[in-house]
Amino acid sequence: MKICVIGSGFVGLAVGCVLADCSHEVACTDVDHQRVTGLQGGTAALSEPDFDDLIQRNVATGHLLFTTDSREAAAGADIIFIAVGTPATLSGEADLSQLWTAIDQLLPTINHDCLLVIKSTVPVGTASAVRKRLDQSPSASKLISLISNPEFLRVGAAVTDFKHPQRVVLGSTSEAALQKMEALYRSFVEPSIPIYKMGHESAELSKYAANSMLALRISFINEIAELSESLGANIHDVVSVLSSDNRIGPHHLKPGPGFGGSCLLKDVQSLVSQAGEHGRQFGIGEETLKVNERQSDNVITKLSDALGTLSGKRICLFGLTFKAGTDDTRESPSIRIADKLLATGATVTAYDPAYRGEAGIRIGSVIYADDPYTGCENVDAIVITTDWPEFAELDYAEIAQRVTNKLIIDTRNILDPTRITEHGFHYVGKGLPHIT
Ligand code: UGA
Repeated sequence: MKICVIGSGFVGLAVGCVLADCSHEVACTDVDHQRVTGLQGGTAALSEPDFDDLIQRNVATGHLLFTTDSREAAAGADIIFIAVGTPATLSGEADLSQLWTAIDQLLPTINHDCLLVIKSTVPVGTASAVRKRLDQSPSASKLISLISNPEFLRVGAAVTDFKHPQRVVLGSTSEAALQKMEALYRSFVEPSIPIYKMGHESAELSKYAANSMLALRISFINEIAELSESLGANIHDVVSVLSSDNRIGPHHLKPGPGFGGSCLLKDVQSLVSQAGEHGRQFGIGEETLKVNERQSDNVITKLSDALGTLSGKRICLFGLTFKAGTDDTRESPSIRIADKLLATGATVTAYDPAYRGEAGIRIGSVIYADDPYTGCENVDAIVITTDWPEFAELDYAEIAQRVTNKLIIDTRNILDPTRITEHGFHYVGKGLPHIT
């Protein structure tokens, strides 16, 4: 099949690369010339495993090409995926400008039967608004069938998650379109994986509900971790008990500094805003966001409980990315913590194994160090903000020699408290009894 993918971020690239690898003829587009030039040269510039290999292999076989010309890419395509960004506006609504621009550019090009697949996360009702826009164009109206196909892949596992999804969601009013999409997915998805077919609204809402549930679980466990600290319990024990209940399960129950990334926060905010537009309240979503924001405040409280005033203190953050396994710092809890620390008058240094900045440069007012040992030179505290496993492997005897004050706030509970305290550190984990 001839396939066009509009938007070559991590979702669009996962779709494009996997379908090209299944021998479809795929053209991926992006408005960012520099990104397209990189992709044409075989580099995704995203720290996603598999992308570069897949791109190079499929560009070489001629199954995959990259262009900034979406009209040319869409000409004659059987299926056009829209995978553009839908970032949050300041008021929390999803900004659909990239989606509308893409559709307006495509419309004059379509003179053949095709499926238009909305893969971007869009507010409920968007497919119906897109349908209205298509119907204003007499030619496109009959030719284009619309599908909502939300994506559930994780940053850092985009290709694996697209190839091996836990479920596929397809929303449409056209049975023929649903069948065509089902056949496309069945060509590479295991037979046991359910493909759910439904209306557009249910498909759109499923995506927001899934991300809201994940966010809710994280805020839930973070609040239980806070309670553990006050009540003298150990969050590891509590999580073991919860996880072993099949009805609860183990996923997204790791306490931490709050969820980050470009998806969970924006999607909960958007659902809160969508509920408000319909005279409803998504109260549990609002609470999820409040608890999440409080997690970074709690780090500041733990630091000031131990150090007194933070003005003039030097704090080193281990981690800038929103989770391990990516170089993505969008909505990272580390950045939230850094901003709050800077507001107290503290000096903040940071080290992250995936951050691509140059040593000694400033990210905002954060001074970036290119190794963890330099980063924690003469600091009053170290805060572990990202769950990079290598932070557990550092030489804490060496670090103890370099810091001014031996305090570690481990928001991810990745260090072994016994080992750390042997080096004289005061260790403060998340939801754990204090150890000195
Ligand atoms: C999330 C969802 O997990 C994907 O299913 C969804 O497709 C994606 O958003 C999206 O909408 O595009 P992702 O943003 O990659 O994926 O991040 P997660 O792995 O869910 O982690 C989000 C944040 O929660 C990170 O900051 C992570 O450190 C934190 N987290 C995660 C916890 O604090 N505890 C956990 O138990 C799990």
